[in-house]
Amino acid sequence: MTPRSRLRARLGLAAITLALFATSCSEDLGQDPFDDRGPAAETVNNLFKPVGLIAVAIFFLVQGLVIYSVIKFRAKGDDDRPKQVHGNAKAELAWTIAPAVLLVGVGFATVSTLITLDREPEGPDVLQVEVVGHQWWWEFKYPDQEIVTANELHIPVGRKVNLRMTSVDVIHSFWPPQLAGKIDVVPNRTTHMWIQADEPGRFDGQCAEFCGLSHANMKLVVVAHDAAGFDEWVDVNTTTPRTPTAEDAAAGLDLFKIKGCAGCHTIEGVSVGTFGPNLSHLQSRETFAGAMFDLDEKNLRRWLRDPPAEKPMVQNGKNLGMPNLELSEEEITLLIAYLETLS
Ligand code: CUA
Repeated sequence: MTPRSRLRARLGLAAITLALFATSCSEDLGQDPFDDRGPAAETVNNLFKPVGLIAVAIFFLVQGLVIYSVIKFRAKGDDDRPKQVHGNAKAELAWTIAPAVLLVGVGFATVSTLITLDREPEGPDVLQVEVVGHQWWWEFKYPDQEIVTANELHIPVGRKVNLRMTSVDVIHSFWPPQLAGKIDVVPNRTTHMWIQADEPGRFDGQCAEFCGLSHANMKLVVVAHDAAGFDEWVDVNTTTPRTPTAEDAAAGLDLFKIKGCAGCHTIEGVSVGTFGPNLSHLQSRETFAGAMFDLDEKNLRRWLRDPPAEKPMVQNGKNLGMPNLELSEEEITLLIAYLETLS
C-alpha cells in the first residue's frame, strides 16, 4: 500500500464510521430506550443514565491520560527513559479506593433497581396478560377478559400490566424499549415483567433474542388507550364474530374451512387451530405477521399469494410459519372479503 492509498483507506473508514454515527441522530426513532414513557422504563433509565454518564466520564479521563502519556513520555532516543518511580502510597490508595467506592455504589443502585422491577404488581387495578413467544410472532392472552390476540398488546394507560411470559419453541426476548427493559421468554418456564404507559400512544418493540431466521421480523406493538378506549377495545375483542351474510365473504369462510386455514388459526365459532395467530378480531389490529406488515388489502393479498416469500420462515428445510396454499387470485379475493368482516 502506498502512503496515499493508505490515507484514502483511512479517510474512507472514518467517513463510514461518521455516517453510522450520524444515523443515531434520526428524529423518528420509534424504539428509543432513552425516551421512557412509563415508570418501569423510567426506573431503568434512572439507573442507566447516571451510570452511563459516569462510565463516559471515566472513559474520557482514562483515554485522556493515555493519550497525554503517549505524547508526553514518547521516547526521543534509545536511551531516553522517563524518571522511574517505585511506589506511591497516595496514588495507589486513591486508584484502589475510588473505583471500589464507585462500584459498591453502582452495585447497590443496580440491585435495588432489579428488586423494584422484579416485584410482580398485585391488586385489582393490575391487568394480567400472558405472553407466548412463537417463531416468529407474539401471542397475548388476557385471562380475565378471555381475549386472545397477536402481535399488538393493548393496555390501559396509568395501570400496571403484569406480563407472565413463556415460549412454545425457542428463547425469545420481549422488549418494548419505551415502556420497559427486556426479559427473556423461555420454553417450559414462566418469566415476568411489568409495564405501564403514562399516556395513550403506540409503542414499537422487538424480539431481542436471536430466535432463528425471522428474528428481525418478530416485532411487537404496545397500544396504550385511555380507560374508555380500552373498554371499547375489550368490547370489540369479546364479541363473537358474526357469520358473514354477503355472498363473497360467506364463500371466503367456506374456503377458510376447506383450504386448511382452520387447522392453524382460531376464529371463534369457526375453528380452534392454535399454531398460528387467533384471527377472531383481525380487523382490530393494524398489523400482521409479527407486526411486520400494515394490515390492508394489498398486503394481505401479497401475503396470501406466498407467505414464505414475504417473510423468511423456512429453517433447516422446514417451514415454521404459514405455507403457500397455492390459492388462486379469485380465492384470495374471497378470503380477504371474509377476513375483512372480522372486526
Ligand atoms: Cu423471537 Cu427473536
